[in-house]
Amino acid sequence: MRHSVASAPGKVILFGEHSVVYGEPAIAVAINLRAYVRVDELDGNYTVIEAPHYSISKRIPLGLLLKPTLPDFPGMESVLEPIYVCIKETIKRFDELPKPFKVRIDSKIPPGAGLGSSAAVNVATAAALSDFMGCDVDLKEINSIAYEAERIVHGSPSGIDNTIATFGGAIYYKKPEMKKFEVRSELPLIVGDTGIERRTRDLVEKVRRLYDRNKEIVSRIFSIMGEISKRAYDYMMEGEVDALGTLMNLNHGLLVSLGVSNIHLDKLVHTALESGALGAKLTGAGGGGCMVALVKNERMEEVASSMRKLGYSVYSTKLSKEGVRIEESCG
Ligand code: MEV
Repeated sequence: MRHSVASAPGKVILFGEHSVVYGEPAIAVAINLRAYVRVDELDGNYTVIEAPHYSISKRIPLGLLLKPTLPDFPGMESVLEPIYVCIKETIKRFDELPKPFKVRIDSKIPPGAGLGSSAAVNVATAAALSDFMGCDVDLKEINSIAYEAERIVHGSPSGIDNTIATFGGAIYYKKPEMKKFEVRSELPLIVGDTGIERRTRDLVEKVRRLYDRNKEIVSRIFSIMGEISKRAYDYMMEGEVDALGTLMNLNHGLLVSLGVSNIHLDKLVHTALESGALGAKLTGAGGGGCMVALVKNERMEEVASSMRKLGYSVYSTKLSKEGVRIEESCG
């Protein structure tokens, strides 16, 4: 039976979260934690979506996916909704009747931690299904299909997560423009996950309240964060990794001043630095979620194990230059 497998990377924001909302630049990089999606041909009239790590398996009548105006699917668990949208959008764009199939999600990216796991799953789903349907995998198409699905999860997202998951590498983002750029280092990174769920929207509102009450001060903090991102962009292009660590520490201090860190993130940041990281900061919205440390290759084990001893989940990773890729093609 035909089958296709695709994978796509997660991401971390290295510089500029929160200040990016106020028009300052931010930098995000793809990391080599990936989401894998396998599409298998099936007998019968159903499409099946399986996400074993959520213990979810859903059967969708194939006819429902082929309607010109694509209906909502009642009873769809929210975690599957974007995947369902991705499947519908992929089929719609290629304007073709697929054979019945099963989509199986296997993600190595912790969900709900600000690491772009939903975007990676959406990108890999669109790519695996396109390949399964015998179509060329056009990266621009994949990116815009995944963006449609991201809108279901996040309302009106910047599009940075799906762009990184599709194209990989590093992105310099200043609303409304994104540019991909080359990093002259493999950027060994350690991600620490507090395991605390938070809503990005709540943290963005918290910063908004602080800004509204203290405009002159907070706008200067944002502009320094913007300066940090600009300098980081230069250092990344030049491969100046040690100097990049210092910028991460500065950026973390400013995020603390905005009130978006917490004791867990700070503990992880301090432990990473004390055990030899070049720099460390929270990544994403804060208030929980993850932090990221930049570490020399030879110190990775030491830093990761000190962080793990605090009782948090810790992932050793590095920059992934590659975005979405077809792992097994049926073409
Ligand atoms: C969240 O990952 C990043 C924020 O800057 C919000 C946003 O850019 O939409 C906090």
